Amino acid sequence: MPIDAPTSAPVDLDDLLGVEAINDPVRYYGRLREVSPVLWNSRWNGWIVTGYDELIAAYKNHEQLSSDRFEGPFADQMRTSASSYTQLITFLSNFFVWKDQPYHTHVRTLVNKAFTPRSVERLRPRVQELVRELADPMADRKDIDFFAEFAFTLPVIVIAEFLGVPHEAREDVKVWSEELGAVIFVSGNEEERLRKGEIAMNNLVELLRPIVRARRTDPRDDLLSGMVQAEERGDFLSEDEVIANAILMVFAGHETTMNLLSNGIVAFDRHPDQWERLRASPDLARPAVEEVLRYDGPIRAMARWARTPMKLGDQQIGEGDRVLLVQYAANHDPKAFLDPDRFDIGRTPNRHAGFGYGIHMCLGAPLARLEASEAYAYLTQRYSALEVVTPELRYNTTMVARSLTGLQVAAHLR
Ligand code: HEM
Repeated sequence: MPIDAPTSAPVDLDDLLGVEAINDPVRYYGRLREVSPVLWNSRWNGWIVTGYDELIAAYKNHEQLSSDRFEGPFADQMRTSASSYTQLITFLSNFFVWKDQPYHTHVRTLVNKAFTPRSVERLRPRVQELVRELADPMADRKDIDFFAEFAFTLPVIVIAEFLGVPHEAREDVKVWSEELGAVIFVSGNEEERLRKGEIAMNNLVELLRPIVRARRTDPRDDLLSGMVQAEERGDFLSEDEVIANAILMVFAGHETTMNLLSNGIVAFDRHPDQWERLRASPDLARPAVEEVLRYDGPIRAMARWARTPMKLGDQQIGEGDRVLLVQYAANHDPKAFLDPDRFDIGRTPNRHAGFGYGIHMCLGAPLARLEASEAYAYLTQRYSALEVVTPELRYNTTMVARSLTGLQVAAHLR
């Protein structure tokens, strides 16, 4: 693991944002799991789920464990922190990731009609072309900003093209999506971030609304047209629903895929034998992506709250309690994975929870898998190594994402 944490300092097990939790999550969450796979955290004021079986049980239990951020214990925080930012709050509250059934089913069913595995598979040649375009200029350079030159750029171009956003708006989408990501992924929200988030949301809505309207009368072969046309027994997505959920896809797929690509490069750098293995057998690219998602996946945890009293593992959860589903920890649970802290790109079975589980399981999983497998396959073929040269890796202080603050690499041809 990329461990840069000082290890001698006493660890405060309650501190989900402490040095050990941020820099050495395997060890930190492992300690929590040893105490209890479902453990009360007084600082966060909620339950922390680190056991695999308990996490899957919680993800499956969408009837008692709510995702709704505009009701229950998260609502006040959401409303007060963003109350004067009307556009931000209106569109965030339309994101179906934060909705329960039956509304979630209404949106997800319709979005699934447009975002199909086949529509994603059709992107493969274009993804391969983009991977080559971004990877080739790295040859024999020792000062590559991997975020800017590759990991940040690939997902945003792919999702923008898939949706049907015009080419010339790509750069703007990149910036606005990053600003929205800062509101959603980073813990604590100061005024400046919310202000920028509101502007970004306004800009994205203004960009997308005329395109969505045009697609009604003049559909194309893209995701916005697919969402506009999607129908299930007389049910359609409204204009605002299409816009909100297109924005959800831009930001949900952007940071996460960037972190998947980057965390993978770090894992390979620490395990050059696995790079060599993939270089020798490019067919391992798909299982390699699954292993990165398990071993050092981009998402640490997702939050829920209990609508009714319930049992989880050995614990009694009270009505209204917050519950943090730490999938990063579950993915290292020795009860679920043999030798869980070993990075093995051929691991099988590999039932990781890196994309969540249950009704909210990641919509974009096929797209993320496509981008990352094409990226790793090409990079290992093209370069004998992508060496991490960042002197000290740093991770963002957030409970949600496992994200580096930056990644410098050197690309060796031989
Ligand atoms: C490696 C990359 C990715 C990871 C690790 C990831 C992870 C996740 C996770 C854990 C969830 C579950 C949220 C919950 O249960 O509360 C989720 C949901 C979702 N993801 Fe992803 N995601 C990735 C890429 C993408 C991409 C590329 C898209 C683009 C469309 C996307 C769109 C979504 C959407 C729309 C949802 C909400 C699904 C629902 O609520 O039914 N994700 N993702």
